Amino acid sequence: MNFSNIKTYSDEVIEEAISTLIKEELIAFPTETVYGLGADATSDNAISLIYSFKNRPKINPLICHVINKEMAYRYCYETKLSNLLAKTFWPGPVTMILNQKKNNGISKLVTAHLDSIAVRCPKNNIFEEIIRKFNKPVAAPSANISGNVSPTKAMHVYEEFGKKIELIIDGGASEKGIESTVIDARGDNPIILRHGPITSEMIENKTNLKVLSNFKIDTVESPGQLFKHYSPNKKLIINSLKAGKHSSYLGFKNIMPDKQFNGEALNLSENGNLEEAAANLFTMIRYLDKNKSKNIMVAPIPNDGIGIAINDRLERAAQ
Ligand code: TXA
Ligand code: MG
Repeated sequence: MNFSNIKTYSDEVIEEAISTLIKEELIAFPTETVYGLGADATSDNAISLIYSFKNRPKINPLICHVINKEMAYRYCYETKLSNLLAKTFWPGPVTMILNQKKNNGISKLVTAHLDSIAVRCPKNNIFEEIIRKFNKPVAAPSANISGNVSPTKAMHVYEEFGKKIELIIDGGASEKGIESTVIDARGDNPIILRHGPITSEMIENKTNLKVLSNFKIDTVESPGQLFKHYSPNKKLIINSLKAGKHSSYLGFKNIMPDKQFNGEALNLSENGNLEEAAANLFTMIRYLDKNKSKNIMVAPIPNDGIGIAINDRLERAAQ
């Protein structure tokens, strides 16, 4: 197969990325969480393409990627909390929900006509250079068809869209492996709307603020949480202590099938490191989705730290 639209970093590739954005077309790019499918956040035409390529419900708003809080505040109002979170966690895997400024130029399709906007400053040198030179926010969801497993490698993006996307920038495997933590930063206390690599404990330790997490708010306030997500083609069976016949198995630490098991088994983290498990999660699910087994069974994952975000993804994928 010819993967000519997958390109690694060079000055020319950065130029190509920017001219593609200016032409109101889409680029796929690496971030520290997962790969994104990006477009000029001010262009209705380009943003429409994101929704149609992904087959994404129009009521599910996109994240605007920025280079720093100053760029974010061109489009939304700062709060004491947003300043603190930006200072502590940006660049990094935190997305903040803030109130939009009126007539800020951001396409209404990006925010699904809400008064709020999601802003995030990713930690990735390639993407940083693109946004800095483009000098406008890039709206981007994860670079997968809606409902599918998120991509953590350039080749995963190709598996989703093939040559439909002109440029897929290959920045290697995403370091974190799961999507950013989404935080409502409009009030005095952070409210987690989507769990991610920055955990409640990390936020509480670094900010001395109590983190609120209200699952009723989750579904109403963060529309993306309503939909089927992260799903492989095969059935995913979670919290399985044993591997079944005709299954593949995704183990954790010492929970692995015995020697008699003749299916394919992978270990998310042999030494029980949850960060490593998060980084491997989507890559391993995608891999096991391709063999001949009927389903994928997954070991129980401890529900603390980033394990909470892992279990959130697994539960949605298993629905
Ligand atoms: O790590 C990430 O966040 C990746 C990379 C590419 O940056 N992006 C990502 O985007 O995961 P996406 O579209 O797959 O998820 C964005 C989430 C959705 O659940 C969406 O509903 C929520 O953010 N969101 C976006 N704008 C919002 C808003 N104004 N209010 C509440 N939730 C919002
Ligand atoms: Mg997504």
